[in-house]
Amino acid sequence: MKVLMINGSPHPNGNTAIALEEMKKVFEAAPLFADCDEIVVGTPFDKTMKVGASVVVARRGGLSATFDEINKYFTICGMPVASSQYWNSVHGREPGEANQDAESLQTMRTLARNMTFLMKSIALGKEKFGLPEKEEWVATHFIR
Ligand SMILES: Cc1cc2nc3c(=O)[nH]c(=O)nc-3n(C[C@H](O)[C@H](O)[C@H](O)COP(=O)(O)O)c2cc1C
Repeated sequence: MKVLMINGSPHPNGNTAIALEEMKKVFEAAPLFADCDEIVVGTPFDKTMKVGASVVVARRGGLSATFDEINKYFTICGMPVASSQYWNSVHGREPGEANQDAESLQTMRTLARNMTFLMKSIALGKEKFGLPEKEEWVATHFIR
């Protein structure tokens, strides 16, 4: 299984990087990271049954609205969404401040463990049952 982590921050070594590194430690311990079933954001290939998890970082506000938006994307792509012990958000402004947000870093570790479990379970499920059948898309506007 493979995990792709995408850091959308303009700061390569900022607080988002710290949040993702916390998850990477758990993936490495599994050890899944080198060899791993994935996080995908915003790409046009088939994402069916690829596990998705969004991580949002902010100085103060807007976290849960952003989290909701990204999760909406996952859920129109046939992606199971991994959950944690709280919403996947981390607070910090200056690079490094996320290290002081102990509860959020725990949330990142829990998220990574839950993702690992989900990815392994889906891999087993695929082997045993195959992927769910897909219907042709029916596009209607409201009831017509
Ligand atoms: C483009 C951009 C938009 C941001 N918008 C918000 C925001 O809406 N609310 C907030 O509290 N912080 C906002 N911030 C602050 C960052 O979320 C915060 O500084 C955090 O450290 C970002 O993670 P990073 O260090 O990985 O870039 C924004 C930062 C950037 C660069």
